[in-house]
Order: sequence, then structure tokens, then C-alpha cells
Amino acid sequence: MTVQEQLDDLRRRALADLAAAADAAASAAWEHAYLGPKGELTRFLRGLGALAAEERPVAGRAGNALKQELSAAWTERDQALRAADLDLRLAADAVDVTLPGRRPLLGAIHPVTRMIDDLSEIFALLGFQTVVGPEVETAHYNFDLLNIPADHPARDVWDTIHVETDGTGGDEIVLRTHTSPMQARVMERTQPPVRVVVPGRVYRYEAQDASHEWAFHQLEGLAVDRNITMADLKGTLAELARQLFGPERRIRFRCDFFPFVEPGVDFAVDCAICNGQGCRVCKGSGWLELGGAGMVHPNVLRAVGYDPDAVSGFAFGLGIERLVMMQTGVDDVRAFAGNDLRFLRQIARAA
Ligand code: DAH
Repeated sequence: MTVQEQLDDLRRRALADLAAAADAAASAAWEHAYLGPKGELTRFLRGLGALAAEERPVAGRAGNALKQELSAAWTERDQALRAADLDLRLAADAVDVTLPGRRPLLGAIHPVTRMIDDLSEIFALLGFQTVVGPEVETAHYNFDLLNIPADHPARDVWDTIHVETDGTGGDEIVLRTHTSPMQARVMERTQPPVRVVVPGRVYRYEAQDASHEWAFHQLEGLAVDRNITMADLKGTLAELARQLFGPERRIRFRCDFFPFVEPGVDFAVDCAICNGQGCRVCKGSGWLELGGAGMVHPNVLRAVGYDPDAVSGFAFGLGIERLVMMQTGVDDVRAFAGNDLRFLRQIARAA
């Protein structure tokens, strides 16, 4: 083999091996094998001295040129392999620190508030204005004007929470036990015709259980005009029942006593779940009791300055939590004020 042939052979093998080097370690081994102190090309260059004097310059130039070529090729290849190695290592060592996005908590309307809104809308269509009144009330409005005199046993019907006063006289202060005092407040400042509904919180001095809360919500209704009759009351409540529970609903009145109405009734709607046949929800009776109602007592009309011979009216009061319970099947009234988000989320969807 001539010197040139040796170099050509060396070049071919060196470049093929370099191309085959698959990672940084193989690249380092290649450099050691060809260009290192004991590498093949280094040995070739060292061996030039053994050649004939006239061969030496040509072989020397060719050898050095090959050394430059291989060095350049190796540098390039080595850098590429190192970069690839680094990429591999980075990919293998990578820790995913991205977090799933956090959904902001979306609030929802409380089921009691939603029911109040629904009721206001239904009654607005029937011509009733929604008004609200004070939760801290005087006995004058909570009882006296409603035909419930002091020291009369009828007061005991409402287990009352009293507000402490300085005892220097003035009226007894209570947390209103019902929304009925707003009947008197509205009539005092308005001349007939009157058509209002009054949603709001009421308070009772009462032990709590699944069907009793010490604070809950009512909606009061009052209509006073010429020639208002019990038929108007029944038609109004029947329409309410149909709006809330479906078009087939019927209303039942039974005699009841409330000092501020005469006659007084309790009213119920036939159970929409079983169509009045009797089921778990209506406890087998076929009826769901919604509240009390009646024709406004003449004493109440007189107490606010109305003439009972000229105008008449009806009034009703219904429990709002009870309505939501009937609509949703919730069976514990304490859940409404219990602040358990799981309950609120469920019922916000169900309602
Ligand atoms: N205020 C009564 C209560 O809380 C409910 C009620 C009954 C309201 C008859 C009325 C009514 O307006 O006519 O027990």
C-alpha cells in the first residue's frame, strides 16, 4: 500500500466509525482511537521519519491535512452527540411542575333567596308589590295591632325571643315571630287598595329539630280592597300552588284560628308527587300544608284606621323553607342555615 492509500484507508474507516458513534462516550473512544497520543493517525505522523526523504513532505502534508479534517469532523460530531445526550438527560430528569388550573369558586343563590325571588315574581304578576320590614319589632306591631292583646293567651302561640331594653318604659321589643306585623305597617301608611307580599326572616324561641328552626323565613300576603272575598284568597293561593307545583294542583282550606283573621284557615296543596294519592313526601295524607290564611279581622282593619264596613281583605303567611323542602325533598330544615357547602352545592343544582 502506498502512503496515500494508507491515508485513504484510514480516512474511510475513521469517518465511518465516527458516523457510527451513537453517544458522547463512543465519540470520546473514537477520539482516543484516532487522534489521541496513541491514536492511529498520531502514530502515522510519528512514523513519517522512517520514510524516504523525498516521500516525507508529501506524506506529511497529506497526514496533517487529514488530521485537520478528522479533528474538525470530530469536534462537530462530538458537540452534536453531547447536546443530544444532554437533551436526553434533561428529558429523563424533568419534573413536571405545572399545576392544573384552579377553578374559581362560583357562588350560587341560596335556595331560600331563590324561592323568595320566585315568589315575588309570581305575586308581581298577580298585582302584588314586594315590601320588606324590620326583624326587630315592637310588641305593638308584632301582637297588639294584630288583635293579640297583652296578657291574652293567644300570645303564647308564638314562642317569642325578647330583646333586652333598659327597662325605662316604652314598648316591649321582640324579634318578630312572623311577617304579619308588616300588614299593619303597610296599612298604616297606605290607603286601600293594598296588595303586598312580605318575605323575610322570623324568629321563634324554640328547640331545633328536623322541622323546627329558631330562625326561618316566611312570606306574608295581604290584599285589602272593596269587596275582597274568600274566593279571591282561594284563587290567589290556587294560582300560587299551580305556579310552584304544576297546573293540576288543587288547594284545600280547613278551619283554623289566628287572632288577626276571621274566618281563619290553614291551606294545603294536593301532593304533586303522588297526585294526592298519598306517598312518603305527603306522609300518606295526599296534602302538603303550606301555611295559614284568612279574611283580615275587622279589629285589625280598625286598628290601622280602615273602615271594615267599606273594605275587606285577605291575608296569608307561608313558610319558605317548607316550600323549598317540598320542591326538593330536603327533609331537615336545619340544613338551610347549616353552612355546609356540600348541601348548598347539591341543592343549588336541584332547585
Ligand atoms: N303569622 C302566622 C304565623 O306565623 C301565619 C299566618 C296565618 C299569617 C294566617 C297570616 C294569616 O297572614 O292570615 O303562624
